[in-house]
Amino acid sequence: MSPFLLTRTLPEDATEAALRADVLKGLTHTPKTLPPKWFYDAHGSELFEQITELPEYYPTRAEREILVARSGEIAAATGARTLVELGSGSSEKTRYLLDALTGLHTYVPVDVSESALTQAGHALIAQRPELSVHALIADFTGGLSLPGTPGPRLVAFLGGTIGNLLPVERAAFLSSVRSLLSPGDALLLGTDLVKDENVLVRAYDDAAGVTAAFNKNVLTVVNRELGADFDPGAFDHVALWDAENEWIEMRLRSRTDQTVKVPALDLAVDFAADEELRTEISAKFRKEGVRGELAAAGLELAHWWTDGEGRFALSLSVVR
Ligand code: SAH
Ligand code: AVI
Repeated sequence: MSPFLLTRTLPEDATEAALRADVLKGLTHTPKTLPPKWFYDAHGSELFEQITELPEYYPTRAEREILVARSGEIAAATGARTLVELGSGSSEKTRYLLDALTGLHTYVPVDVSESALTQAGHALIAQRPELSVHALIADFTGGLSLPGTPGPRLVAFLGGTIGNLLPVERAAFLSSVRSLLSPGDALLLGTDLVKDENVLVRAYDDAAGVTAAFNKNVLTVVNRELGADFDPGAFDHVALWDAENEWIEMRLRSRTDQTVKVPALDLAVDFAADEELRTEISAKFRKEGVRGELAAAGLELAHWWTDGEGRFALSLSVVR
């Protein structure tokens, strides 16, 4: 059996304090916002996995296509002995990298979702008895410290999750990732690309309503953790394309005038009818934008691979 170690770098009371701070700030802000990392309790992680199989949600399939085609080149370019994956979720697509990285010593999946890490970890133990897996429950925006495993290290950030950060957050995040890397280490970054607006909006407003359920799940998380009385049925799921910022925005639109109580914060929040709460941005990228954001963090874009339809890109930066 391979070793599977699960380390909690976030004490549970720190997670609750972070949720309280985010909810207080976001629900008292105009316009109202909540950060997307709170979607991912066990149910939210499961809903995300369902999203990845929807006919409208192309990013997972497009990125998988690139990984199938390019994992050999990625392995050859990096020779990684440690693979760190940020926001690893189910680690489902990661298997192409794990297969290709023949000298791999340790896989370090990093996620805020304990359920996702545990499920993925158990599946990996069964499938790859030789691999050492050191899972970290951690916020990848919060100053990561990685286990002292052998280099070279490859840090993978797949799925286009970087697009869920605001530009200013992305810059800070990429700089903090750069500071984790030594010469010979590399960053593999998945980015969804700008494309036809209808294709984009459909990917975030699917016919089966799975994305709507995922979006409303954040209200359920706040209800459970902070005793709030959000009625998810009193909000509509909204997905729209912001052409200026080139991002999809997910919102929850209040159906009526209503007041939501959040007892843990001693807070009552008024929503006017049609008022919207922003729950996620999902930025879409262009090659030169990615190159520029990497360069600003001291990383050089060395490879850029897309799927056959040019919907999604993987870029690789190797530190000199
Ligand atoms: N990489 C997978 C999963 C993407 S879903 C894929 O490509 O399919 C986004 C994942 O990032 C979820 O598992 C979620 O729990 C995790 N996540 C979101 N915000 C995070 C944060 N701030 N720190 C750590 N993990 C985060
Ligand atoms: C995790 N992340 C890249 C997804 C995305 O596409 O922005 C989250 C998601 N939101 C709605 N559907 C999927």
